[in-house]
Amino acid sequence: MAETNNHRKLRFHILRYNPAQPGDEPRIQTYELEEAPGMTLFIALTELREKLDPSLQFDFVCRAGICGSCGMMINGRPSLACRTVTKDLEADISLAPLPVFELIGDLSVNTGKWMRGMSETLETWVHMPETQRDLKRIEEAMDPALAEEIYELDRCIECGCCVSSCGTARMREDFVGAVGLNKIARFRLDPRDKRTDADFYELVGDDNGVFGCMSLLACHDVCPKNLPLQTQIAFLRRKMVTTGIS
Ligand code: SF4
Ligand code: SF4
Ligand code: FES
Repeated sequence: MAETNNHRKLRFHILRYNPAQPGDEPRIQTYELEEAPGMTLFIALTELREKLDPSLQFDFVCRAGICGSCGMMINGRPSLACRTVTKDLEADISLAPLPVFELIGDLSVNTGKWMRGMSETLETWVHMPETQRDLKRIEEAMDPALAEEIYELDRCIECGCCVSSCGTARMREDFVGAVGLNKIARFRLDPRDKRTDADFYELVGDDNGVFGCMSLLACHDVCPKNLPLQTQIAFLRRKMVTTGIS
């Protein structure tokens, strides 16, 4: 018996703009595509590019929610396209690049450049005295509960969704965002990092750090890894306030 095909016709309204092409203007372009079972936005965009428009730009690497490269505005909300299934959306789907980051073209943005700048500003690596940097030395075992706590914060995939949802990040170019504050919380927990709260205060104790955050917690709501951003930002702010006045 022939299978009945009652898949929906999806309409993708995509913000197109290639800053590298002289004279190009931002515009919304609409494409139609038949929905397939289990279709994700990764599958849909790949099909659109293969069948309808080879010039469409977007980023994907892992297709499994772990590389962070496919963040985009999906119906106005920052999310991972590879983890979004079309059956959860209306037939009309709006796609736009993440704001705040440098636009490469269409849905592709340079989150790497922003993340690198933030990492350099916050020095997101373990700081230990020269004498302890002996690669032959056996590392001290870490308390498993503490290792678990650090691992929880280390699950950040630097997708940029939190930054794109953040009012402060849109107004303040050097704001380190929830991703940056989460990293400070992570290194602050790490006993190998010998930085003190006074050192961390130097890095995030201003309006580009914890005191620029408006605490409306859009970042917490959109983080695809469900990181405890709300708790971490509140905790860090309390710590930095006490460090600042002591
Ligand atoms: S904190 Fe969450 S939303 Fe922000 S970059 Fe990391 S994984 Fe993405
Ligand atoms: S809570 Fe702070 S970091 Fe999160 S979105 Fe709001 S201003 Fe940005
Ligand atoms: S492609 Fe890697 S997170 Fe989506």
